[in-house]
Amino acid sequence: MDQIIVNGGTPLVGEVEISGSKNASLPILVASILADGSSEIENVPHLRDVRTICEVLKTLGVKVAFKGDSRVEIDPSWLSGYEAPYDLVKTMRASIYVLGALLAKRGQAKVSLPGGCAIGSRPLDLHLKGLEKLGVRFSLEHGYIYGQAKKLVGKEIYLDVPSLGATVNIMLAAVLAEGETQIKNAARDPEIVDLAEFLKKMGARISGEGTDQIDITGVKSLKGTSYQVIPDRIEAGSYLVAAIITRGKIKIKNCRPEHLTAIIDKMEEMGASLDLGPDYITLVGRDKLSPTEVITRPYPGFPTDMQAQVVALLTVTPGTSVVTETVWENRFMHVEELERMGARIYQKGASAIIEGVSNLSGAQVMATDLRASVALIIAGLVAGGETTISRVYHLDRGYENLVDKLKKLGAKIERRQSK
Ligand code: EPU
Repeated sequence: MDQIIVNGGTPLVGEVEISGSKNASLPILVASILADGSSEIENVPHLRDVRTICEVLKTLGVKVAFKGDSRVEIDPSWLSGYEAPYDLVKTMRASIYVLGALLAKRGQAKVSLPGGCAIGSRPLDLHLKGLEKLGVRFSLEHGYIYGQAKKLVGKEIYLDVPSLGATVNIMLAAVLAEGETQIKNAARDPEIVDLAEFLKKMGARISGEGTDQIDITGVKSLKGTSYQVIPDRIEAGSYLVAAIITRGKIKIKNCRPEHLTAIIDKMEEMGASLDLGPDYITLVGRDKLSPTEVITRPYPGFPTDMQAQVVALLTVTPGTSVVTETVWENRFMHVEELERMGARIYQKGASAIIEGVSNLSGAQVMATDLRASVALIIAGLVAGGETTISRVYHLDRGYENLVDKLKKLGAKIERRQSK
């Protein structure tokens, strides 16, 4: 298995270009199968999760072609299957998005249950409850959920928690349902707004996206279109933290600062000086940082997908900080790895109490999930000596050209191919 080797101590300096959003690309690629013609999606990052969703679509008969660096052409004219197999779904839970799309387009769907997940239990009850309200009948057969609907009819649906995935699945089904659907307590994430924008360009009637109530009036058919995916806010936030921890000076280009408000506010509260433009963030100072308290919340709260990176930053921020995770119950697996690098962290229930140390020391550590992996790299950038991170396949799911981008900023980082 490949490893990443980081030699810490070099401030990141220069410019970095943010790629398209992974978590917006995945539902948009699936949504394109709702159309009667082809769509061209731009700014799609080259990532393992993107390749996986494309494989799922191909097994359904959809033609998928990568054009150039970040353009994907999807032609659903040959859509014939209705089954997403275990081998693909188990590697990426977002495959479950085909459930809503297939039910809308084909009236049936058979999707493998995704199975366990390292960051916590990830139930699908809200996805199923929402789709059932629209008229779907589900059964569980041999590890697969089988759904069937003679026709979908719009309804009022309340989500107990503002689940991003459940909101996506219900939107994908409701755009072709008969009548009006209201999703209450919907996820408000920028990725939901991006999906709604794409669906509207295809001819869907949607309003309220970005608020906690999304209203959808079903239409009879949708047409193919072209669309540019938003930049990845978590990738941008990760580079921001990497620059702050190394006392660097960088410009993060092609990002949407308004999608990072909770992260930017927290960094400024800690003492970082940032300059925000319409599509860039510049880290201007090399300031002394103060400890803080972070609680992860659904958007627009502080994102759980930035929790591990911020924990890494707080390990070298003088004073006591507290980080509380409220979205995923098991998302502190990076803590023990950071402790191997000299961090002082005490875990108490859903909180990590972090005593900042003056320096970390490089060590051999193991990545456990996507965001934990990048947190270990961030820690490695500031640690004394060499940090070796194994199981880096997690990173390939969500960070495009991470090693090259960091190298361009002056980091001493290499990927070592396994023999
Ligand atoms: N939940 C339920 N029932 C459901 C669905 C969710 O109780 O039917 C709960 C979950 O257990 C969790 C909370 O709702 O406690 C939020 O889950 P959500 O459904 O919003 O998460 P998701 O759609 O499965 C997406 C991202 C995650 C990100 C979360 C939260 C994608 C592909 N994944 O997951 O991203 O952590 O939203 O923001 O968009 C990552 O990129 O590293 C990643 C894990």
